[in-house]
Amino acid sequence: MSTDNLHFHKHRVSRELKETRNNHKSRVIWFTGLSGSGKSTVANATEKLLHDRGLQTYILDGDNVRMGLNKDLGFSPQDRTENIRRITEVAKLFADSGSIVLTAFISPYREDRNSARQIISDKDFIEVFVSADLSVCESRDPKGLYKKARAGEIKGFTGIDAPYEEPNKPELVVETDKYDILECANQVVDYLVEKNIIK
Ligand code: ADX
Repeated sequence: MSTDNLHFHKHRVSRELKETRNNHKSRVIWFTGLSGSGKSTVANATEKLLHDRGLQTYILDGDNVRMGLNKDLGFSPQDRTENIRRITEVAKLFADSGSIVLTAFISPYREDRNSARQIISDKDFIEVFVSADLSVCESRDPKGLYKKARAGEIKGFTGIDAPYEEPNKPELVVETDKYDILECANQVVDYLVEKNIIK
């Protein structure tokens, strides 16, 4: 649909004012990785550390968003692209509200993550590759989905018969098959401190 007759409103209470009040910058921390790699767990542990420092945060998480906003979407390449597109727009709104947003979606396609980066803006987008070998994710199998995919009960499962495209230049890689969750979460927090996003 055309946006020709729409006019973007600049709000009186700007994002900058919110960041000043919060005493930290707002950003989108985009966790990507295989199912079972630990995206949600690392995102949750990171959020807890940030919250305990008194920062404003919000998590957007794969399964939860798919139960509401995106419940009309499945796992075809087109639906995954639309899933990521909507999440991108929501993450951008939350960042505009002054929050540090943590997203935890497989987001398997490089092109979709790159357009998320473009829409959100390069400066605000922190891509974190949650890295764990497929064999490790499969042995964890927290939801029993790899087993179902191997048995042919789920078609198009990421890592089995659907692709996962690893990031080429993520801001950060956390290796959940080498470090424990708290160490990975602390690596994210250290990055934010190093980049002067939080104090
Ligand atoms: S994404 O590919 O569109 O980014 P998203 O992160 O929202 O995926 O959802 C992934 C979650 O959906 C998985 O953790 C798993 O619980 C569930 N799921 C169900 N079917 C599939 C599938 N075919 N491929 C991957 N995940 C699936």
